[in-house]
Amino acid sequence: MVTGQGGDAQGWGNMAVTGSVRDAIVANGYDCRIVLAEDRRALEAGLRDGACDMVWSSLYFFSNREDIIGIPADAVWVADVLDELHVPYIGPSAATMKALIGKFDTHEVLACNRVSCPRHVLCPPSDCGEVDFFPAFVKPNGESRSVGISENSVAETPEALRKQVAFIQRELGQAALVEEYLPGREYTVMVIGNGKQREILPGRVTVDPSHYGKYPILRSDLRGVGLTHVSLPDAHKEEAIALAGAACDALGCEDHVRIDMREGADGKLRIMEVNGIPGLKPVKSWSPQIYALYHPGEDPYGALIGTIVRCAMERSYGK
Ligand SMILES: Nc1ncnc2c1ncn2[C@@H]1O[C@H](COP(=O)(O)OP(=O)(O)O)[C@@H](O)[C@H]1O
Ligand SMILES: [Mg+2]
Repeated sequence: MVTGQGGDAQGWGNMAVTGSVRDAIVANGYDCRIVLAEDRRALEAGLRDGACDMVWSSLYFFSNREDIIGIPADAVWVADVLDELHVPYIGPSAATMKALIGKFDTHEVLACNRVSCPRHVLCPPSDCGEVDFFPAFVKPNGESRSVGISENSVAETPEALRKQVAFIQRELGQAALVEEYLPGREYTVMVIGNGKQREILPGRVTVDPSHYGKYPILRSDLRGVGLTHVSLPDAHKEEAIALAGAACDALGCEDHVRIDMREGADGKLRIMEVNGIPGLKPVKSWSPQIYALYHPGEDPYGALIGTIVRCAMERSYGK
């Protein structure tokens, strides 16, 4: 397993989570060691430290930022390094990882493949004057955990939009993705495994409505504090499964991703983002919660981790 200071902002979680994943891997009968890698050299040294059939990284790229993802222009991508070294890894390919971490790029691939996503404009390079749909939703293009998302993310007017785009640029140093506002129910769909063994497991995400302000959105202050609840969906189930499957096929997702979607004003689902390295906090993260809903057993977390590793091994080495 590879992790570093950016593990929580970018990937499955902090060192404690990494320890939980490692314990579950070992309980599934595999050997496992943790490599702390702040740069390429540390990763290469860690790989030389012992045998390695498969890498699982919580990092998209090397970073010492704990607060935000904040992709720098000169990012060194873990999957690129692993490709160069011919070491197989869990999760999507380097190209797909890069398309997933930038939400605009994800939407462009989805739109090209006629997979439903919101109308979207990236500012810059586009000017917010080009946005002709209101209310609009303004979010950082490359963040997670609702970083940068508040009541101000919903812009009802061009002035409010311009202000929020400037806020994202100033505070998070990145372009703002402006989307059509999706007013309806929210879902998150776990996709695990590949080919015929792929399982697509939709969950409904709710928060007690008393926590909402004017808009029923997952603001940053509602995330990671035990307020979100995941349950089996009572509507949109087949639609969510079909949409998630089409998105994974279009983007080339592998092993484990989690896809966030919401209902538009027309009642149809649209994809907000595809998480390439979903959170794996035991009990708390959405993927372990969803897996436990569909696979209630003695140790759903162990079964989830074991399934991801087994699927990646089969994909890379055959049965
Ligand atoms: N277009 C949108 N319309 C309405 N709400 C949105 C929209 N995009 C995002 N949100 C809200 O913001 C939250 C975070 O957005 P998301 O794109 O999933 O980014 P991340 O989880 O990576 O921070 C979502 O869970 C949802 O509640
Ligand atoms: Mg999300």
